[in-house]
Amino acid sequence: MGQSFWEQLGLGLTLLLLNLESAVTGDAPHNCYGAPGLPGMPGVPGKDGRDGLKGAKGEPGIPATPATQGPKGMKGEPGIPGLAGKTGPIGPPGPPGNTGIMGMAGEPGTPGSYKQKHQSAFSVTRQTNEHPPKNVPVVFNHVITNTNHDYNTTTGKFTCRIPGLYYFVFHNSLTANLCAILYKDDTKMASFCDHKINTVQVSSGGVLFHLGTGNEVWLEVNDYNGMVGISNSDSIFSGFLLFPD
Ligand SMILES: *[C@@H]1O[C@H](CO)[C@@H](O)[C@H](O)[C@H]1NC(C)=O
Repeated sequence: MGQSFWEQLGLGLTLLLLNLESAVTGDAPHNCYGAPGLPGMPGVPGKDGRDGLKGAKGEPGIPATPATQGPKGMKGEPGIPGLAGKTGPIGPPGPPGNTGIMGMAGEPGTPGSYKQKHQSAFSVTRQTNEHPPKNVPVVFNHVITNTNHDYNTTTGKFTCRIPGLYYFVFHNSLTANLCAILYKDDTKMASFCDHKINTVQVSSGGVLFHLGTGNEVWLEVNDYNGMVGISNSDSIFSGFLLFPD
């Protein structure tokens, strides 16, 4: 597009003014033209410019410090109870409880063996050529018969287990004077003394005792203690239950 009319006019005025100035320079001091006009009014501000370029990255900030702990708060309300836990393992057995009340009587049992339960009989010998100590039970140390160990070969005493009537009997060989005394619980019940006349002789005696459970029977000697138990000359002590209560 060609220059506008106003631009062409502006260019024409400029050329005219230049010509006028050259004409004035060579003229007299008197100005033929009027005084210059006042400066024109300032123009309206221009439009905003375009956005500038993005700025440079800034300096790193101050490192953050951990938050300091505040004062302890008030105690909170208890929470609602949780659900019941799982059943734990079985604990150790507790101590035994108190004795219960007595139960009812049971049915009668089957009949026992009368023979086994009501037997008591012994025959024991004393096998030594030494005379027994005096005033203590004579220990017959060799068992021929001894049901339920009622005769004790360590203590020399018979202990009653079944109450009833018992028969005791002895046959003692002697090589010196001998007194044989039968005891029932520390009580002298029967005494048999024999003075030695032959080389070897035998004295004997027997007695019936009524015994209760726990009663003891034994045989003692005193200063006359010539009892022996040697070949063909035994000393033997026997007892048996004749009638149970
Ligand atoms: C014999 O008596 C002794 C001493 O009291 C005892 O230790 C032992 O157990 C008794 N023996 C038997 C078979 O009862």
